[in-house]
Amino acid sequence: MKKISLFYYSHHGNTRFLANHIADALGTVPKELSLKEEIPVKEFVRFLRETSLEEKKQRLILEDSPRIDESWDLIIVGSPVWAHTAAPEILGLLLNYLPRKIPIAVFYSHGGKPEGFLKEIRAMVPDNPVISHCGFQSPLMSTDVAGKRVREWIQECVAGYLYEK
Ligand SMILES: Cc1cc2nc3c(=O)[nH]c(=O)nc-3n(C[C@H](O)[C@H](O)[C@H](O)COP(=O)(O)O)c2cc1C
Repeated sequence: MKKISLFYYSHHGNTRFLANHIADALGTVPKELSLKEEIPVKEFVRFLRETSLEEKKQRLILEDSPRIDESWDLIIVGSPVWAHTAAPEILGLLLNYLPRKIPIAVFYSHGGKPEGFLKEIRAMVPDNPVISHCGFQSPLMSTDVAGKRVREWIQECVAGYLYEK
């Protein structure tokens, strides 16, 4: 039995929709993350620009700290794209709780301009291989199409990886 966990954050439900499909397909329970001290949406860009990496780590402490150790086979991470990077809850997960070397699979929901998102993720966790990634534009606008696409992604890229491992 492979050890996998699915962590995500969703502000308006798009990423939650994807997370629920993925969890169903893999028979796992998705965990929605929240910060001990929320960063209001309107302050996010200023927070990104004006806070040092060390200060970010200190601010981005999660409720119910996820316990992940080196024995995990895969962590699946889902985020909306915010200012071309991940939402603060996911930044917190990556910067504070993800042990090095554990492979990750990344899915994200965006409004049409996701450029730079994956580069940011990779820069944050350079020692964690990204085994696969998939972006979805406004999935709640076309749930049938997005639901089918996310299931295909999981079957072809993620379940395949776990099976081969
Ligand atoms: C603060 C903020 C910043 C955003 N920045 C981007 C962006 O840079 N590129 C983009 O394509 N969409 C951006 N969006 C749109 C969201 O990524 C998009 O609506 C996503 O589907 C929301 O997912 P959710 O419903 O799970 O919260 C932004 C939304 C918010 C609230």
